[in-house]
Amino acid sequence: MTILIEQSALVSQVEQKDLQKNKNELVLDGGFTVPKVLTSDAFVAPEINSFGQTFRDYDAESERQKTVEEFYRLQHINQTYDFVKRMREEYEKLDKAEMSIWECCELLNEVVDESDPDLDEPQIQHLLQSAEAIRKDYPDEDWLHLTALIHDLGKVLTLPKFGELPQWAVVGDTFPLGCAFDKANVHNKYFKENADYNNPAYNTKNGIYSEGCGLDNVMISWGHDDYMYMVAKENGTTLPSAGLFIIRYHSFYPLHKEGAYTHLMNAEDKENLKWLHVFNKYDLYSKSKVLVDVEAVKPYYISLIEKVSPCISLFPCQAEMVKLAIFEFKSIQDLEAAL
Ligand SMILES: [Fe+2]
Ligand SMILES: [Fe+2]
Repeated sequence: MTILIEQSALVSQVEQKDLQKNKNELVLDGGFTVPKVLTSDAFVAPEINSFGQTFRDYDAESERQKTVEEFYRLQHINQTYDFVKRMREEYEKLDKAEMSIWECCELLNEVVDESDPDLDEPQIQHLLQSAEAIRKDYPDEDWLHLTALIHDLGKVLTLPKFGELPQWAVVGDTFPLGCAFDKANVHNKYFKENADYNNPAYNTKNGIYSEGCGLDNVMISWGHDDYMYMVAKENGTTLPSAGLFIIRYHSFYPLHKEGAYTHLMNAEDKENLKWLHVFNKYDLYSKSKVLVDVEAVKPYYISLIEKVSPCISLFPCQAEMVKLAIFEFKSIQDLEAAL
């Protein structure tokens, strides 16, 4: 897989600045600034979701909320350190299927995320709504458009071809295993029934980790984030580190929304977290009943996929097939260089 990204934009766009100097800067939770979008039609986060409730309101009374709470009960009981270890070993084989990014986006239409209190539209709408909103505000950051487009593709884990995992092993907020469960996790009362809860090796603040060890060394609950990160990485993606961080930790709300578990981050994690905060606004608040016209925007995303990932093969099972895919789109010289 070849994804060509200009990384200089990353350095130039996120800079520590005096917040008072420029009123055209957007101040974000992470204590950093990014240039505020100057167009008058820039994306504005709504205050309520399409069900008329505030976003991520896990206490609101509704049938949907009961389903969500039951989801978290099962997730918190079943996601243990050993379970995640087994899942990583199984899925790093990448032997489930092979398909293009766009095929995978369309396949995702068959998935409904039971953990999400804000969305009951087909998943491709969520991918495109978030990607389109980011595209509008950050027209030059094509790596961020692509990141948005693919960030949830790992939800195919719920489909038969990918093992038909239960919802609690695919979606929902993620959290570390191997150390104490933080109270910042939604519905955290259910962790008491998790087998790791009373394990003395796992139930201290650092558990089996050390302060500042870096999230890459931490076992995070298994789901679509870690799976898609694994797929991208094993395919040799050249997405910038921030793009991979977004894919891998976008459901890690206890960290990026509540500020829990920050003692496990290293310096690179802290830098990447700035971009995750940018992304999260679009991931969370672009969910809407106003649907994106898939056919209208498809040519742009196809061109983006071909531009930044001409040979992407999401789930390769044979190296030969990956080579064929490369050959289809690239010159012999590029092919030799890529191999
Ligand atoms: Fe997600
Ligand atoms: Fe998402």
